[in-house]
Amino acid sequence: MRTETAAGAHDMDAYDFTRHISDPVGRTLVDSQPPVIRQSTEADVPAMLEIYGYHIQHGLGPFDIEPLHPEELKRRRKAMLKRRLPHLVADLDGAIAGYAYAAPFRKRPAYRYTVEHSIYVHRDFQGRGIGRGLLSALVDACTAAGCRQMVAVVDSANTPSLRLHEACGFNQAGVLRSVGFKFGRWTDSVFLQRALGPADGALPDDHRGGTVLAGD
Ligand SMILES: CC(C)(COP(=O)(O)OP(=O)(O)OC[C@H]1O[C@@H](n2cnc3c(N)ncnc32)[C@H](O)[C@@H]1OP(=O)(O)O)[C@@H](O)C(=O)NCCC(=O)NCCS
Repeated sequence: MRTETAAGAHDMDAYDFTRHISDPVGRTLVDSQPPVIRQSTEADVPAMLEIYGYHIQHGLGPFDIEPLHPEELKRRRKAMLKRRLPHLVADLDGAIAGYAYAAPFRKRPAYRYTVEHSIYVHRDFQGRGIGRGLLSALVDACTAAGCRQMVAVVDSANTPSLRLHEACGFNQAGVLRSVGFKFGRWTDSVFLQRALGPADGALPDDHRGGTVLAGD
């Protein structure tokens, strides 16, 4: 199994994502060729943009409502890498089947050990274990980066995402009613949370490499 990394120093550069491929919580990931889960590179941006653009138009996942400009996605990706947070793709022999990344939960520094993440799987590869493989790899990468809590914000009608998160150890923490407006309707957002590593069982070490940097 190949493991590849993005250019530049990164806490997850040496991280082995391959164990999420063969048995991500007890199911076969894909039928034949398993994907490589690796750090994204700038060359992956068009593929990620295509995946995201489709879901903006057709799904409940994204909270953007207009297609992103490639430069905006490049900027977002670089911002996550600058904060030493994982930005992963599932690479199926050169085809990007999905991507997932973590971002600071809130910008204020007291939240620096908590991340919020996003995950998108290409429409042609949904329901084949890609999302589970990406999310479990992201959980491990965030843990390795020193994060202590991981938060997902999911549309209450997005059953596949709610089930995926629950299957990966997330618990529902609350619902914000009618905070979004998409496809002509008000939308509720479900907060899901998962503790990472020692979580709140140990004090953080602000001097250790790999902690989440505060937002600007
Ligand atoms: C949600 C999403 C990431 C799931 O990825 P996926 O690769 O299709 O999911 P997987 O095949 O890995 O399935 C993993 C688990 O998720 C749940 N799940 C996936 N698709 C589901 C569906 N259509 N209905 C119910 N549960 C589903 C199941 O628990 C499944 O485990 P199981 O197959 O053992 O029952 C993907 O469907 C997607 O990209 N959706 C559009 C974008 C989006 O909504 N992103 C999330 C934003 S919060």
